[in-house]
Amino acid sequence: MSFPKGFLWGGATAANQCEGGYLDGGRGLATVDVVPAGKDRLPVALGMKKMLECDSEHYYPSHEAIDMYHNFKNDIRLFAEMGFKCYRLSISWSRIFPNGDESNPNEEGLKFYDELFDECIKYGIEPLVTICHFDVPIHLVKTIGSWKSRKMIEHFTKYCETVFTRYKNKVKYWLTFNEINMLLHLPFMGAGILFEDGENKEEIKYQAAHHELVASAMATKIGHEINPEFKIGCMLAGGNTYPNTCNPKDVWRSMELDRENYFFIDIQSRGEYPTYAKKMMERQGINIKMEDEDDELLKNNTVDFISFSYYSSRLISADPAVNNLTEGNAFATLKNPYLEASEWGWQIDPLGLRITLNSLYDRYQKPLFIVENGLGAVDNVEEDGIINDDYRIQYLREHIKAMKDAITEDGVELLGYTPWGCIDLVSASTGEMKKRYGFIYVDKDNDGKGTLARSKKKSFNWYKKVIETNGEDI
Ligand code: BG6
Repeated sequence: MSFPKGFLWGGATAANQCEGGYLDGGRGLATVDVVPAGKDRLPVALGMKKMLECDSEHYYPSHEAIDMYHNFKNDIRLFAEMGFKCYRLSISWSRIFPNGDESNPNEEGLKFYDELFDECIKYGIEPLVTICHFDVPIHLVKTIGSWKSRKMIEHFTKYCETVFTRYKNKVKYWLTFNEINMLLHLPFMGAGILFEDGENKEEIKYQAAHHELVASAMATKIGHEINPEFKIGCMLAGGNTYPNTCNPKDVWRSMELDRENYFFIDIQSRGEYPTYAKKMMERQGINIKMEDEDDELLKNNTVDFISFSYYSSRLISADPAVNNLTEGNAFATLKNPYLEASEWGWQIDPLGLRITLNSLYDRYQKPLFIVENGLGAVDNVEEDGIINDDYRIQYLREHIKAMKDAITEDGVELLGYTPWGCIDLVSASTGEMKKRYGFIYVDKDNDGKGTLARSKKKSFNWYKKVIETNGEDI
């Protein structure tokens, strides 16, 4: 058998991209709710344009999303029909603490996830919960500047303690922050950070990162105390960076870019600031405020497993004249002439997944979990309602083969695979619905029109068979 017994096949979503019901059940406004679709999306996500309220000029795709808030039973039934062993979802922080700093949680929010987890458990689906997937209660941005402030550690860990305690018998697998390295690339979307003129952006980002890293370690400590059986992981926006040529200068740049991302996981997994990061901060005059107890906390509360998203590899050159760019997950990269790309310019590199799996396993020697992977594509609904998404099947098949090689040929320990957007949902980068990842189609367009009806794509039955045969028949 290539895939181990008990391998966690499933799919992944995030609250802000699928739930909707943004003010239902006592939920408070969150950062993700003020990120509009359209031309202002990127400046807002980057923290360059301040928009902390919604207005009538913009369309906010998270407000309704695919309305999973009211449809989760039906959606989870479809996941079960595909044979999911695992479902990765995120809890919306502002459903539990609408403002983020209340003394007591919102019972209605807690009840919602109780019901959702019960539904998963009914079908034998293991929930894998991201505690923070690109959302911060907006009140915390307005009052303390979100993760710029050390106070956030207290608010976040209280939120963690609340959900750990409440769901300790329903959830075993947890991730503290989704794509924690996104803080560097999309500071507002990733961490609720806004910049004022004249601020030292790099210093702010690394200070915020320190707060998240301490919060993550503290959450890991609390979680393990509440239930020693918990498996608590970190989450990286993964994908190795290749050098454009064998010129050592290109190789050096690729190492630097990879380290920028590894930085977070090095701390979460090895428990201390890597020397290269300390030196980089020294060189760049980045001064981080740390408390005496931080070192010990980081050291003693490392993660149980490493999870990551993988859409593509990256490519970099030391020569600024080489600037033939294409889009990628959150930031652009050089075009790799050996790779095809999706309609959104994200390059397709299944072998890159095997490379990433090996790099992470070599570096950390901890079990890995691929919690996002997939092809964002335009789907065409044919006259009879059929959606022949062979391109998606092809993409996933090749990536599953690469996983299989990493397991059987390289000995990588892999816990599971939850492809992204198992049901169509709102795109994080563009706010579109047209960029679809799902096995399940949702009738809704970029302007928010549609019946929200669900239908099975061709990939639905294909993935069902993959799971049924534990990855043998792909
Ligand atoms: C990851 C995020 O960056 O990639 C998801 O964790 C996101 O939230 C996914 O949706 C795919 O990106 P996009 O921009 O195509 O939605």
